[in-house]
Amino acid sequence: MTTKTAAKIDNTESWEPRIVAFCCNWCSYAGADLAGTSRIQYPPNARILRVNCTGRISLEFILAALEMGADGVLVSGCHPGDCHYTSGNLKLRARWTIMKKAIEQAGVDPRRVRLQWASASEAQIFADGVRTLVKQVKELGPIMEEWK
Ligand code: FES
Repeated sequence: MTTKTAAKIDNTESWEPRIVAFCCNWCSYAGADLAGTSRIQYPPNARILRVNCTGRISLEFILAALEMGADGVLVSGCHPGDCHYTSGNLKLRARWTIMKKAIEQAGVDPRRVRLQWASASEAQIFADGVRTLVKQVKELGPIMEEWK
């Protein structure tokens, strides 16, 4: 084994995925906050971006996050029926399958993106969602490996 190969293996072992988590202001952002104040452990890989509603999330947001170096994207919002704007999350849910297809066509494994619902009191669900996505993305490896 050459030194160069050994260095590559070391880099892979120490690699940690970067996750962008779009959270709606009214439920999941508060849920993420509660996870912090309740000391619920979850991987520190997620960078949380607050949006008013998941209905605001477009394909461009997700692709931009991936292009800027995120290895995975989590979208987390209010449960269906609980959206502060009545139907923003339902509209996102209706677009989600098409968005995942478009992400796949852009050359990205769709398992790098995850949609979940977590209310302000569901800190554990938020934390579990981050943990699940981090595990999934770790199995896939760095996104740059996929785009080579
Ligand atoms: Fe939370 Fe719409 S306000 S998903």
